[in-house]
Amino acid sequence: MNTTGTMAAQANFGGLGVVAFESRHAQEMASLITRFGGVPRVAPALREIPLEENAPALEFGGALLAGKLDAVIFMTGVGTRRLVDVLETRHPREQIVKALERLTVVARGPKPAKVLRELQVPITITVPEPNTWREILTELDENPRGFTLAGSRVAVQEYGAANDAFLDALRERGVQVMRVPVYQWALPQDLQPLRDAIKELSEGRARVALFTNAAQVEHLLQVAEDTGEKERLLKALRKVVVASVGPTCSETLAHYGIAIDLEPVHPKMGPLVQETAQQANELLTKKLEQEQRAQAAGIEAIGKASEHLMAAGNPIADNESRIPKAGPIGTDSEARPAWEDSRFLRACRFEAVDATPVWLMRQAGRYMKEYRDLRARVPFLELCKNPALVSEVTVTAAEKLGVDAAIIFADLLLIVEPLGLHLEYDKGEGPVITPGVREAADIDRLRDVEPEQSLGYFYDAIRQTRADLDARLPLIGFAGCPFTLASYLIEGGGSRNYRHTKALMYRDPGAWRELMERLARVLARYINAQIEAGVQAVQVFDTWVGCLAPEDYLEYVQPYTRRMLEDVRPGTPVIHFGTGTAMLLEAMRDAGGTVIGVDSQVELSHAWQRLGDGVAIQGNLDPVVLYGDLEFIRTRTQRILDQAAGRTGHIFNLGHGLLPDTPYDNVVALVKMVHEISSQQLSAGHHAAPDWKFSRRKSDQY
Ligand code: CP3
Repeated sequence: MNTTGTMAAQANFGGLGVVAFESRHAQEMASLITRFGGVPRVAPALREIPLEENAPALEFGGALLAGKLDAVIFMTGVGTRRLVDVLETRHPREQIVKALERLTVVARGPKPAKVLRELQVPITITVPEPNTWREILTELDENPRGFTLAGSRVAVQEYGAANDAFLDALRERGVQVMRVPVYQWALPQDLQPLRDAIKELSEGRARVALFTNAAQVEHLLQVAEDTGEKERLLKALRKVVVASVGPTCSETLAHYGIAIDLEPVHPKMGPLVQETAQQANELLTKKLEQEQRAQAAGIEAIGKASEHLMAAGNPIADNESRIPKAGPIGTDSEARPAWEDSRFLRACRFEAVDATPVWLMRQAGRYMKEYRDLRARVPFLELCKNPALVSEVTVTAAEKLGVDAAIIFADLLLIVEPLGLHLEYDKGEGPVITPGVREAADIDRLRDVEPEQSLGYFYDAIRQTRADLDARLPLIGFAGCPFTLASYLIEGGGSRNYRHTKALMYRDPGAWRELMERLARVLARYINAQIEAGVQAVQVFDTWVGCLAPEDYLEYVQPYTRRMLEDVRPGTPVIHFGTGTAMLLEAMRDAGGTVIGVDSQVELSHAWQRLGDGVAIQGNLDPVVLYGDLEFIRTRTQRILDQAAGRTGHIFNLGHGLLPDTPYDNVVALVKMVHEISSQQLSAGHHAAPDWKFSRRKSDQY
């Protein structure tokens, strides 16, 4: 008998039903299980999808070649190979390799190392087994070859879901992180095999579960939750031998309180199946006895592994919420959507346009008769909660004005209700929020928000609007920034001097930090779900940030806005807007955003000079100019376009929202003027295009 035969004889599942979740190696997994005497039930839990345009990968290429990075961490073999394939569509391979030679190149494990060697890229650091992010950090913390994390710019090639714990740990060390997702995991198109696997486990027909990566765990539980089987599955898993390929996967299992019975010596599929086969029957007997004892004693058997990890001070990444669900992400075979070539998105990408794109804040609103008529029948909040009406209002405004983008009709404060507060719009008085959040105890009382669930109507409205809107027009989503939202929560509505907001900030910095961190987290999630639902860009409003002195902005606001923006799914342009920000523009830019929205109190050309060519600019006609006559409006519009001087990356807008009694005809005329004047300027070759087109600091945004 050969060696394999001997091992197979020792390692035997003895006819147990064995569930596994492998996708790419599903066949191989099934035959391994069979070979070791098990009855395989392989339910692929993941589908790999290329990102629609691979914009983050291309942006990485730009930053790499421009010498704007200090290190690159390659996480996976497949991802590394695909990343290079994407880059090669734009740059010759020699250039890519040459640029990499100048950096600290980290290979997480043997697979990316192999690809890098094939490309003849010198590897500075090869991370030892078990190749998790902790080993990467340990290696980097030792300052290899003079490389210091603090203050460095590091690109992380990502595989599937972002590893938030790793990214956070890097940021804590003062690293400017550029996320480079090359592909994402989605749920498989056919969920039946997963549903069947859940049933097999829940009904006790399968007694072994093999997990070969962390995302499988997330997807299994997601499907179980969607079918109302989660609790039952978790309970059933207490009587199942659970084997995990390695530490990252085990952490995710532990996070859900699932006890892990085995991790193989080498974090690979072969050893996982073989070692589990060897011990399955013994482990199962033990586990069943344990469960019986626990039940007799009336206590819940808790995952030993999770207890162990917690005791070891090993915080478990809370990345459950960050796993991207299967969404409307294009596949290679899908045609490129028409909006990709719109003036608006081209400007966000610093590409040339035939005329300057224009849209207007509050373009759907009371200055428009159709809107007033509708509002006479439907209260404002009710309107926001009705997807068909939202779509109608959004689409009507965009089409009637002839603007280059639609903004979803909604409100910055919709998120207030799921936080557990009461929101009301009194006639003409603006929003009223009760009770106000004034101290630490009020912050503790705020509910954890799962926007996808609690604001279902909003995401339905986005889907409906995207379906109804001309495919050539991008749809813009929006959110408040942590400060502006906090100011509404604290003041209970609008405010003149932000007395209570500043008082909390100065008096109880701990409570302030807690509130801002929570809002940053929730808002990033709120935004990402909008992207998932179908918006092409996002504007974040820090409308009232101008009430702060620059030092207060830097200390009390910027870190949280930055955190929120860093967590926004890369590849979607973000417009970062505020008013009264003449003293804050650079600080806002440094917090993030592809485009900076400027108000009318700064000269556009001056703002651009200060912000540099690495950022696009939106703005900045005073909305009150629209009360003047057409000639006056034309003069002021021309001035702004002259200041933009035909640069790539200008989006025309107002310095703030349209006022309710703005003359409608003037608004329509403004949009026409912007197109007319700018197309003449541009065709006359009035160009001052920057010589590079990558966002200087926020390269992980777009
Ligand atoms: O720009 C658009 O067309 C999209 C829709 C939109 C609305 N509000 C509709 C709205 C957007 C992007 C907002 C954002 C918003 N909401 C902000 C930040 C924007 C900014 O101006 O800086 C803020 C601070 C809010 C909160 C809010 N909503 C206030 C203070 C008010 C009352 C002020 C007012 O104009 O009455 C609202 C109500 C509101 N939001 C209206 C609209 C069309 C008017 C409601 C009505 O029809 O009576």
